[in-house]
Amino acid sequence: SSKHEYSIACMGADGIGPEVIGAGVEVLKAMSEASGGAFKFHFEDYDWSSETYKKLGKYIPDGGLERLKKHDAIFFGAVGAPDVPDHISLWGLRLAICQPLQQYANVRPTKILRGTESPLRNAKTGDLDWVIVRENSEGEYAGQGGRSHQGQPWETATEVSIFTRHCVERLMRFAFEIAQKRERKRITVVTKSNAQRNGMVMWDEVAAQVAKEFPDVEMDKMLVDAMTCRMVLQPKSIDTVVATNLHADILSDLAAALAGSIGIAPTSNLDPTRQHPSMFEPIHGSAFDITGKGVANPVGTFWTAAEMLRWLGEETAADKLMECIEEVCGNGVLTRDLGGTAGTKEVTEAVCEAVRKSY
Ligand code: NAI
Ligand code: MG
Repeated sequence: SSKHEYSIACMGADGIGPEVIGAGVEVLKAMSEASGGAFKFHFEDYDWSSETYKKLGKYIPDGGLERLKKHDAIFFGAVGAPDVPDHISLWGLRLAICQPLQQYANVRPTKILRGTESPLRNAKTGDLDWVIVRENSEGEYAGQGGRSHQGQPWETATEVSIFTRHCVERLMRFAFEIAQKRERKRITVVTKSNAQRNGMVMWDEVAAQVAKEFPDVEMDKMLVDAMTCRMVLQPKSIDTVVATNLHADILSDLAAALAGSIGIAPTSNLDPTRQHPSMFEPIHGSAFDITGKGVANPVGTFWTAAEMLRWLGEETAADKLMECIEEVCGNGVLTRDLGGTAGTKEVTEAVCEAVRKSY
């Protein structure tokens, strides 16, 4: 908004979600204060989670989506509980927000932060700097399919992928725009158009068509299996990547691991038309194995907060926050997943302190 005041829906949800979102809110408050009120947040807490599902039989209460639509952005933790099947929690909350709010582009930046190490022997900070753009509304996760004769030996199950020219084209154009804004102006279009000869061939055709609108962007194509090898063996050759819902889901987890830890990576579920609020979340899940121990890495959520600031138009603040995160990592204030000994609280305090000093 032109007033630089933002209404943020905070939804920590399950497991370590509320821990890291709480840490993220602290950092955003510190930023707003340190800026002398140059931008302000109004946080509203939403307690939708697997606990509410177990009590009420649904994640989102009646009229809930309409309430969410009033906000400028949604700051989301993770959903998933040991005693709720994962397809129920994912479809009950996360996808139940992404799909009706038309957050059709999922954007996942990855890089090796200062002070962190890639498991790739030869990759240093700067050698791996990617943005993966994932189709977030249809494809393999369109929810089309069904099961017949359940439990019988002749049971049949279908999981139908849906690819529409409209959705592929809008996503492709958005990905090219991202590539164009980046220094290297390079995009890799990932498909599997040798084996999947309908939807994926259409992807290739749409990519070729959209590429004509961006003569300054250099495009190349990869099959998804070969792409995994290129990510590991030639990380420097990659910049922006665009792929389907399923392919990019998998590639982006690999990307996060190659950058050092799943605990540092952010993701944005964007409605590029800005008709509805977009949703920002760390890519990791609810991590029940470490819930309540105070050891969750909040860096993925801080980077997520920076992506949210950027989308809201606060570019300078976003850059500043990234610089503070890298400073803290560079100083060795790291959680256990990154080989350090600090807890969530210490990392959060260190980043808040760096923020206060940076203004
Ligand atoms: P996960 O990301 O929760 O955990 C994988 C491993 O990484 C665990 O060992 C965990 O301790 C570690 N880890 C994750 N985040 C960390 C952090 N911030 N700091 C330090 N270590 C961290 O993935 P998992 O175990 O496959 O899934 C657990 C639950 O989360 C499931 O119910 C799953 O469906 C859900 N999930 C939800 C997502 C979402 O809400 N967007 C995304 C991924 C999983
Ligand atoms: Mg995933």
